[in-house]
Amino acid sequence: MARAEVDLWQADADGYYSGFAPHVPDGNLRGVVVTNAEGRFEIDTIQPAPYQIPHDGPTGQLIEAAGWHPWRPAHLHIQVRADGHRPITTQLYFAGGEWLDSDVAEAVKPELVIDPQDDGTGTRRSTYDFELEPQPEA
Ligand SMILES: [Fe+2]
Repeated sequence: MARAEVDLWQADADGYYSGFAPHVPDGNLRGVVVTNAEGRFEIDTIQPAPYQIPHDGPTGQLIEAAGWHPWRPAHLHIQVRADGHRPITTQLYFAGGEWLDSDVAEAVKPELVIDPQDDGTGTRRSTYDFELEPQPEA
């Protein structure tokens, strides 16, 4: 779909997000790209790291009581939007990543796991297709 917005935000290589870690610059690893006439887009970014969710207070007590760990596997947050269509908000994970099989948020699904491969230049690339549904009539 042409002119769809692909909004991506992610943690840095140490697992920190802008807006949540004082040492990370505002807007770091956050951005919106617009699909071209063929509905395609391309994003060059870095590999995010896994991170721990805050585990003080009640969340920490729950994690401990349940016998869980506080880790999320490395992921990209993505929202895809287009006029007249229902937005998609999702996360993409990385094949072979640490904590993939035990995400504390239990958000990993096989269809959301990408497996970037070296393109011969040392850059790892992957493709992913999003399909937007028309917005239901109000
Ligand atoms: Fe996240």
